[in-house]
Amino acid sequence: MTAGGKPWVGIALMPEKQFLDLLEPAFREDVDAFEVAPETTWRRAEDGSWQPNGFHRAFAAIGARTGKPFVAHGVHGNLGGADSRDAARQQRWLDRVALDRATFGYQWLTDHLGACVLDGDALALPIALPMDEAAAALVRERLVRWQQVVPDTGFENSVFYFLLGDWLDEPAFFARILTAERTHLLLDLHNVFTMAQNVGADPYEYLRRLDLDRVLEIHLSGGADSNPNWLPNGRTLRLDSHDAAVPEEVWRLFEFVAPRCRNLRMATLERMEGTVGEGDVAAVRGELRRLREVLHAGR
Ligand SMILES: [Fe+2]
Repeated sequence: MTAGGKPWVGIALMPEKQFLDLLEPAFREDVDAFEVAPETTWRRAEDGSWQPNGFHRAFAAIGARTGKPFVAHGVHGNLGGADSRDAARQQRWLDRVALDRATFGYQWLTDHLGACVLDGDALALPIALPMDEAAAALVRERLVRWQQVVPDTGFENSVFYFLLGDWLDEPAFFARILTAERTHLLLDLHNVFTMAQNVGADPYEYLRRLDLDRVLEIHLSGGADSNPNWLPNGRTLRLDSHDAAVPEEVWRLFEFVAPRCRNLRMATLERMEGTVGEGDVAAVRGELRRLREVLHAGR
């Protein structure tokens, strides 16, 4: 939250020099806080340990120049993975996040809901969990364990290209996970838009079923439609690709939901590295200002 009690406007920092250089004015003038994927700040040392890389130093320097806080949004915490062979790797992951907290002072720690290690192999994208009590308990225990490192923890609603159940049952599954204190939902609205489009459901019905009091942070981003040649019937899928402007439908979801999230602390723009050139800077900064207007309207 800002000093005035309004939620922060955030941007996800990408590990790319051009992204960081072009958006430096936005870091100073348009945002209140930074989101970092801790894994983008690490390199693997010869002894197998994770050590800070050049972006660790670059992100820390942005923090020092601007005096603005950081939050951590992991990609390989494996919140829902049940394979016990991944336990040692998960501990090394958490230990490294703990060390990074000394540099970045992470205000909270979240990751994507799903399993990202299966049968000992790392997956590029998390896969869906069964929406049952065993999976809810696993995620809940992991969020509580992470609180040894950062007191507020949470998960993001993901995009899945197959589901184990009805997408509109996810809000009830989330409620079963989020029974411990200081565990939260990171609500990604482009993910809601994408899932609604791909499964043919009403995104507003999904939002109405969520316990919005648990929403700590909101993500806004853009994406693209898949190539019609990918599927034999020519059908396209919405992709969670973070490579374009926030669609108007997602802005409308944000206008609907932001005033209803009473404990919201930040709304963050996500935009992938490699998709911001000189000609895109004005549009990205315009999105950050629009985000602030919506976020602060009526608060
Ligand atoms: Fe997201």
